[in-house]
Amino acid sequence: MATFSGGGDKNEATERHAHVVGWGMAVPESALTNEELSTFVETSDEWIFARTGIRQRYIADEGESTATLAYKAAQQALEVADILPTDLDLIVVATSTPENIFPSTASLVQDWLNAHDAGAFDLSAACSGFVYALNMAADSIRAGSIQSALVIGAETMSRILDWQDRSTCILFGDGAGAVVLQASEVPGGVLSSVLRSDGAGSDLLGIPSVGSIDADDSRASSNGAKLYKMYMAGSEVFRFATRVISESIEQTCTAAGIQVNDIDLVIPHQANLRILQAAARKLGLDADKFMSNVERYGNTSAASIPIALCEAIEQKRVQDKDHIALVGFGGGLAWAAMLIRWGVPEPSEQHGSMFNRQRRHVQYRIAKWRSRSRRWRRRVNRKVREIRV
Ligand code: ACO
Repeated sequence: MATFSGGGDKNEATERHAHVVGWGMAVPESALTNEELSTFVETSDEWIFARTGIRQRYIADEGESTATLAYKAAQQALEVADILPTDLDLIVVATSTPENIFPSTASLVQDWLNAHDAGAFDLSAACSGFVYALNMAADSIRAGSIQSALVIGAETMSRILDWQDRSTCILFGDGAGAVVLQASEVPGGVLSSVLRSDGAGSDLLGIPSVGSIDADDSRASSNGAKLYKMYMAGSEVFRFATRVISESIEQTCTAAGIQVNDIDLVIPHQANLRILQAAARKLGLDADKFMSNVERYGNTSAASIPIALCEAIEQKRVQDKDHIALVGFGGGLAWAAMLIRWGVPEPSEQHGSMFNRQRRHVQYRIAKWRSRSRRWRRRVNRKVREIRV
């Protein structure tokens, strides 16, 4: 059970480390290629690929949403970690495209998983959101207030794009990635993080929406951008991104007491291949040390880092004891870097894989039944109260 009070647990374990023990990703069924895009937007495959490195992106269909993608990625991460949803203390979903302002997307995922002992909330830090969320969860683990957390980056960017604006709609895609973080006495895991923001750049990149500033949806945003549609000053964001990637990676290395050259793999936010190449040059690192899959997914905002991490693991680019740097940057402006020493502690003996897989599936079914029956009970109770009055 998540307590967040610090309290008793903290003194029992002297050294606690937060390790990534599970990972998973999900993308929609349908891909949209540059050629297909160029049939309804004035652009071309050559322009998009040369300026960004993107060839295609995945677009959610009617039945898919930020929460359904997050749920799929979460199920995979729980399989790899081989833990039960009921073992989770915390679920954080980093997203700029939540299902609602509230309830949080994390609460929906919590319900669908039957993770009934977990606290759940969404975190908004645009493309840096996943690293922010991972840092919050790792700190809670290291402080002793929780044992395990599910951290998800999930987006349906296609729903907030202005499909007539060729300078933004060609860049983004939909998807979700998730990791399970767990407490361990094995040294390593999350070593250091750097979280930064510069709100003076808030006009460079955003999605104007109705909020507490003005509840009137006829309001036009201050820079003339359409409500609920993304706007971006691309070249300024480009310059900002190349600067903060190198700066924040250097800072997180210093905080962890290692040299930039000791980094084995950088898993950056996948915005634009040229940004990653420029950042690698600035850091004096080989461009091969930067994981990139932007070609196939485009920019999936908060989902891009966990998706790239999953693919790096699948491609065997992540080995035990490797130093992995994560770095996110984007709207806010906000940016964040994290250094991890990879090392998945041995799964504990109580987790028999086959048995647990069945138990997880039973829990997912129970979750559906429990949710429906609770809603049904509330409806019946309301009716009974109405009849009595
Ligand atoms: N197809 C064809 N031509 C285009 C397109 C397009 N899709 N988009 C713009 N152009 C044209 C422009 O109109 C312009 O024409 P002009 O010279 O006649 O005026 C020309 O191409 C150059 O436009 P630029 O905007 O200067 O192109 P640039 O090389 O800067 O590339 C891009 C644009 C890809 C958006 C780049 O600036 C970029 O990647 N920026 C950073 C994005 C980013 O990192 N975002 C991170 C965070 S996202 C988040 O937080 C949600």
